Amino acid sequence: MKQLTERIEQLKKEKDVVVLAHFYVEDDVQDIADYIGDSYYLSKIAADAPQSTILFCGVRFMGESAKILSPEKTVLMPDLTADCPMAHMITPEDVAKMREQYPGCAVVCYINSTSETKAVSDVIVTSANAKKIVESLPNEDICFIPDCNLGRFLQKDMPGKRFHFHNGCCPIHSRVTPEGIAAAKAEHPEAKVLIHPECVPEAVAMCDYAGSTSGIIKYATESDAKEFIIVTEPGVMHRLRTQNPDKTFYPFEQMGVCEDMKKITLEKVLHVLETFDNQVEMPEQLREDAKSALVRMRELAQ
Ligand code: 13P
Ligand code: SF4
Repeated sequence: MKQLTERIEQLKKEKDVVVLAHFYVEDDVQDIADYIGDSYYLSKIAADAPQSTILFCGVRFMGESAKILSPEKTVLMPDLTADCPMAHMITPEDVAKMREQYPGCAVVCYINSTSETKAVSDVIVTSANAKKIVESLPNEDICFIPDCNLGRFLQKDMPGKRFHFHNGCCPIHSRVTPEGIAAAKAEHPEAKVLIHPECVPEAVAMCDYAGSTSGIIKYATESDAKEFIIVTEPGVMHRLRTQNPDKTFYPFEQMGVCEDMKKITLEKVLHVLETFDNQVEMPEQLREDAKSALVRMRELAQ
């Protein structure tokens, strides 16, 4: 293990590679990353990194977004089959139908989407910036895709807008039920409940805080409370516990793990550093078409 991490560190330097990791990947992979964060933070780091190569430890849409914004950089992924199922729950044809049905709408697309869907969207959002971005849009009709749970979570604070949804969702976060939240609260009555807004709004409404993975970690770190029930993928526990050794974090068992994020292993990280296999590529026209919605996210999230 020590040999493996030492070799990874050496290759990172030799080959001018920055390693980015999402909070849901395995703990040992997070430990060798130069930056760990939520989707929005990592997309900014990827776009601004001075290194010539980005090694993205996460799922496919993250690596593709990095390539779209930084075509001159080599983008590597430890496993190109690590993919977010939600990204495939809507197609460009579905988006075209929504535009026909709601003329003048803004198509607001969660970053957990394919490049093809980004290419036909007006703006990309993540859970960390969605509220700010949607509020700033002049359009009254908002087609929020593909995550209807995140969309419904946003809708409740924006009565002036008409939201229209597609039926995409995260298969992991959708396992969380209001009954499950009630049971966890009964078991740990002193604990604050922190949840990701990919869960159904009925469950989110029962919790003390809802936000991105980084938002959850920030809230727990700054809170005076000592116990927390964490209702998102348990990968976030690593940072929560190392940053807050005096606090207790209970994972939400009903959730399970994101199998795609867990495909990323140290062995695969080393393999791509050695070989430069698994480069993210896409047709130039698709990259250009998908870029404007991502650039608009960066502008509106400032
Ligand atoms: P964050 O942007 O909050 O890290 O979420 C990414 C994700 O895939 C959640 O399931
Ligand atoms: Fe996709 Fe859900 Fe995994 Fe996040 S946790 S990458 S939304 S499947």
